[in-house]
Amino acid sequence: MIPIQKIIITSGPTREWIDPVRYISNASSGKMGFCLAEIFSTLGLELVYIQGLTESRYSDPKNSRVVNVETTLQLRDAVLAELESNTLLIMAAAPADFRPIMVSSQKIKKNKESGISQGLLLELEENPDILFQVQEDIQYHHYNNVIRIGFAAETENLSQSAQEKLTKKSLDGIIGNQVGDGQGFGEVSSSLLFFWKGQEVPERLGPASKEVLAKLIFESLLMRFPSLSRESKSKIDSQ
Ligand code: CTP
Repeated sequence: MIPIQKIIITSGPTREWIDPVRYISNASSGKMGFCLAEIFSTLGLELVYIQGLTESRYSDPKNSRVVNVETTLQLRDAVLAELESNTLLIMAAAPADFRPIMVSSQKIKKNKESGISQGLLLELEENPDILFQVQEDIQYHHYNNVIRIGFAAETENLSQSAQEKLTKKSLDGIIGNQVGDGQGFGEVSSSLLFFWKGQEVPERLGPASKEVLAKLIFESLLMRFPSLSRESKSKIDSQ
């Protein structure tokens, strides 16, 4: 039995500033993370919602403690600060993978010599992989019972890439979704593939709205970890 006491859900994109007016980010709205937080809050366990720059309607879900972050490094620090034994971590956030090596303190001006654009070369460095660092942190602190669920947003080779990330990031489960070409972001209906550790064939969820998909993910997690609902029930009973 896995006595989960706490749920951490990360949501939305992170943002890496180039100069005071420009940044690097991605098209995540935060809707999936928000829908998951809303449904997982029904368990009555401690719920922490770590939000990047989500759309405002996907901010501050009810019955959760909200932590605001902007950059991927801040998201990493917030996740590691909340991590402890007996925790379910769902990484629905879309962290920016790269950040500028130098952030200009002034707005970068266009540089034209004799009317010819010089373009702009941006030098980027890779952000840390948060799920890798979670794995290292679990080992370092000897945490027990940390269930880790990731997402894999892919434009091609969805199954293969999702399975690779499942293994590489030491996850218990990974939810693959096809993105790009009008798919995956915001309000559209999606189909998901839920791969579990040690299981070749994925569960197919959808096509459905993100509200419905969040419920299907929730039910799938409860099927696999029945103690999640048992723990929360005994917690509610004892109050
Ligand atoms: N993730 C993470 N740290 C990062 C980037 C992503 O922990 N720096 C998490 C995401 O929250 C997601 C999973 O890893 O749960 C997969 O994210 P995805 O963007 O699909 O993959 P990447 O690892 O960034 O790989 P790539 O961009 O090369 O596909």
